[in-house]
Amino acid sequence: MTDLANEAMTIKLDYELPEYPKMEAGYRRAPRRESHLSEADKALAIKNALRYIHPDHHAKMAKEFAQELEEHGRIYGYRFRPEGKLYGKPIDEYKGKCIEGRAIQVMIDNNLDFDVALYPYELVTYGETGQVCQNWMQYRLIKKYLEELTDEQTLVVMSGHPLGLFHSHKLAPRVIISNGLMVGTFDDQENFNRAAALGVANYGQMTAGGWMYIGPQGIVHGTFNTLLNAGRLKLGIAQDKDLAGKLFVSAGLGGMSGAQGKAAEIAGAASIIAEVDDSRIDTRYTQGWVSHRTDSLEEAVKIATEHQKAGKPCAVAYLGNIVDLLEYLYEKNVHVDLMSDQTSCHVPYDGGYCPQGLTFEQRTEMLDKDPEGFRKLVDKTLQHHYEMICKFHERGTYFFDYGNSFLKAVYDTGVKSICKNGENDLDGFIFPSYVEDILGPCLFDFGYGPFRWCCLSRNPEDLHKTDMAAAEYIKEHNRRYQDYDNYVWVRDAEKNKLVVGTQCRILYQDAMGRMNLALKFNEMVRNGEIGPVILGRDHHDTGGTDAPFRETSNIKDGSNIMAEMATQCYAGNAARGMSYIALHNGGGTGIGRAINGGFGMVLDGSERVDTILKMAMPWDTMIGVSRRSWARNENAMTTVAEYNKMYEGKDHITMPYLADDKLVEDALKSVEG
Ligand SMILES: NC(=O)c1ccc[n+]([C@@H]2O[C@H](COP(=O)([O-])OP(=O)(O)OC[C@H]3O[C@@H](n4cnc5c(N)ncnc54)[C@H](O)[C@@H]3O)[C@@H](O)[C@H]2O)c1
Repeated sequence: MTDLANEAMTIKLDYELPEYPKMEAGYRRAPRRESHLSEADKALAIKNALRYIHPDHHAKMAKEFAQELEEHGRIYGYRFRPEGKLYGKPIDEYKGKCIEGRAIQVMIDNNLDFDVALYPYELVTYGETGQVCQNWMQYRLIKKYLEELTDEQTLVVMSGHPLGLFHSHKLAPRVIISNGLMVGTFDDQENFNRAAALGVANYGQMTAGGWMYIGPQGIVHGTFNTLLNAGRLKLGIAQDKDLAGKLFVSAGLGGMSGAQGKAAEIAGAASIIAEVDDSRIDTRYTQGWVSHRTDSLEEAVKIATEHQKAGKPCAVAYLGNIVDLLEYLYEKNVHVDLMSDQTSCHVPYDGGYCPQGLTFEQRTEMLDKDPEGFRKLVDKTLQHHYEMICKFHERGTYFFDYGNSFLKAVYDTGVKSICKNGENDLDGFIFPSYVEDILGPCLFDFGYGPFRWCCLSRNPEDLHKTDMAAAEYIKEHNRRYQDYDNYVWVRDAEKNKLVVGTQCRILYQDAMGRMNLALKFNEMVRNGEIGPVILGRDHHDTGGTDAPFRETSNIKDGSNIMAEMATQCYAGNAARGMSYIALHNGGGTGIGRAINGGFGMVLDGSERVDTILKMAMPWDTMIGVSRRSWARNENAMTTVAEYNKMYEGKDHITMPYLADDKLVEDALKSVEG
């Protein structure tokens, strides 16, 4: 059978084992992962990993894998990591038989760049556990497949494992990805942990396993929009003003959370962001994404309040626990206007949330040596954190959950008072999720979402040209304040030095904006003004994610527990020929709490791509707006009505008739026994 596999495969890992690479010091390493494997399971995990390896090397690799499993709770296959720095090189430097095969390699390598990835050696791009694929054998094999892929084949990737190349056609996706999708009864963290340790499940989060992460810039724009709109809705800020003179306090300067200080600064606010890991502060400070850093509470608060009083923006990184910061601010009677949290609370017990009283290093050690004790400390701190937020709330602070499952994590520790109905989480929580209150009604319901693109040449000139083209387009199509915010964003984006890794840009746009910009960029590629571009979006979008505690939290017709929108979005994008598509379990809120998907679309300047863009771009956005409209969301209904008119004879979306509450109440009363 060994010979059968070896002879039957022409695409496989090289026979010779690579030299064990030198691990460079100074890069963050993932903590040991929980797995609880039985002895039989451990054997299975090793056998599973050996499927990638020629049997001549099994004796050697079985020992190496056993050691990794013991030490890290996972088999990463470190030996197979190419030595040195990985990064998204210019597309011409990649081998491949079609442009998509090469473009996707750029995106994968960008996700694993030392400057971009959270734990680059463990293939984690962001969000504590969001991985490109499970191990380095998969990485190597995916690359081999991408080099062989033609424009009439589709590569299937299941939880990081490249299942194979299958023939399709030129308008079909070149790669179809799924991550961590589990059968209902097993769809929970415990089963997922076991499956991941066995090497059969990958936590793709969103753009990590969807190969579309563009560094924390991706979230700066969303956070900027959220903060600005929170100010408008809750602090009475005029539509043409910013957050000058307001104080924002939060936690986390990691992969995504690292955007908070920068976004607050761009929005004009003074801010303090607590972070327990000094290396994260270092990264953000070197990048210029936080303006000040200190481990003194007194100094942090002094700098921030001085800026606040002068109406000047600042982003102060406080090295320490968020709960210590809140206690200090409360004791000193400092008024906080806006408050949030962006620790990795979707995985609080895996290292996502640091308990009060532990340094970052102590947290890592305890996680390894005493996970049960660690859990208890996490619960205690979360509960105290919640109490502090309640106290600030009483003093007029507006707190919102920033999509990191913070409220759910508090609830999971047994705090029922955090639930709207005082009993369970079915009706949501007493504090809003930022999507429920802000991003949903102000942006997603119109279709505005995190459209993005990446210039595959790695040439900053190309990015500059696309920025300018986008700014010009939005200026000409300025319909509402959201358009103006987006115009300001893209106009100033270069000045704000947001690029980390490849030359990418995020820009919130609605369905028409996304399609028209995509067509414009493809035309620019066609005319030779710029090199090839890849488009995509965060899964965290109007139609990309079903997640009742986040993206779909402002859907109130009871369908927020359904996962059909993201699935339809993915299927529809496949049908319309996006270059690659991804569907995941978990997203930013955790296993079993979200189904989410995204896409990548390579612009090569061709008419073929124009055809796909005209079909796929409106679909990808309007699926979300349609569902939001059907849930009776007012702004979504207006948007759908406009769309039905615009696309008359081509597209047609069902709209809801609105029933009168009183009439329904009376009808119910009339049949009461
Ligand atoms: N709202 C969104 O659009 C959005 C997007 C992506 C991610 N998220 C969510 O935000 C969370 C953070 O994402 P990330 O990529 O930044 O993760 P991350 O793990 O890279 O960063 C979180 C940071 O919080 C710090 N931290 C943990 N506990 C702390 C404490 N008690 N006090 C101070 N600092 C503490 C950690 O050291 C870490 O650096 C995740 O749950 C993710 O799902 C939200």
